[in-house]
Amino acid sequence: MDKIACDLLCTARTMLTPHHALLTLRADEPLPKVSPGQFANVRVAGSPATFLRRPVSIHDYDGAATVQLLVHAVGDGTRRLCELQVGERLDCVLPLGRGFTLPDTPLRALLVGGGVGVAPLYLLGVELVRRGCDVTFLLGGKTEADILRREAFEAVGRVCLTTEDGSAGTRGFVTHSPAMGERYDFIYTCGPKPMMQAVGRAARQSGTPCEVSLENMMACGLGACLCCVEKTTTGNRCVCTDGPVFNTQELIL
Ligand SMILES: Cc1cc2nc3c(=O)[nH]c(=O)nc-3n(C[C@H](O)[C@H](O)[C@H](O)COP(=O)(O)OP(=O)(O)OC[C@H]3O[C@@H](n4cnc5c(N)ncnc54)[C@H](O)[C@@H]3O)c2cc1C
Ligand code: FES
Repeated sequence: MDKIACDLLCTARTMLTPHHALLTLRADEPLPKVSPGQFANVRVAGSPATFLRRPVSIHDYDGAATVQLLVHAVGDGTRRLCELQVGERLDCVLPLGRGFTLPDTPLRALLVGGGVGVAPLYLLGVELVRRGCDVTFLLGGKTEADILRREAFEAVGRVCLTTEDGSAGTRGFVTHSPAMGERYDFIYTCGPKPMMQAVGRAARQSGTPCEVSLENMMACGLGACLCCVEKTTTGNRCVCTDGPVFNTQELIL
């Protein structure tokens, strides 16, 4: 099975902060297999401003019919998603896009996330650990309150933190963390573009393979409208179908 359109039932909603919700959604039938880094394109009912579906990373997947989404309310669509009630249904197309490359042999991996960019890294970390990898999460935010689901990440791997105000972990950006100076076989990252560019450049300098999950604006999510195009070293690529995950060798950093 490739991707499906279905109405997922909201079985739980936890507000992690006043602007971040963790949604647990269950399908009536088993879902197609989800690979870490793939996303759902979600219809947000109730407003002309949210006519287009909104892309949201699949944060967790139980291997059967349940997924979790981690949503940051930045506009009308994501605000409405954060207000979804238990018992309501959400029209989703999933799983979409190409996810992260998964190793066949155990390796030492660094997963760097900023803000809600941590969303796809949880399922990735779980899968890497299942494959015997040594996983370090490096999570960054402006302040401690921006570090989402810290305990959940700690249950999967080593967690290092940075905050711009020094309220948790190392003061500064993720690139200031001592964890960035260690040797890894692979680096994965998702978050604000300047953060991903800085991590990508650091990975290049150390000769470490690195993949980035881009969050370009999207509409169709299916490669038809071209509104998500990213200029790469191999030409213009649709983030929704060629990505959202790209190797930094392909990106113009
Ligand atoms: C592959 C992918 C995965 C994503 N995963 C998640 C996720 O797991 N959790 C999550 O909360 N968000 C995620 N996003 C971002 C999310 O799709 C946008 O925040 C959302 O579409 C904004 O819709 P809105 O109606 O709330 O805001 P709008 O009213 O459309 O816009 C409000 C503000 O948000 C900005 N904005 C709109 N779209 C994006 C975007 N794609 N990236 C950054 N800023 C944007 C606009 O410029 C504007 O300033 C992801 C995006 C992509 C492409
Ligand atoms: S969102 Fe339409 S082509 Fe990517």
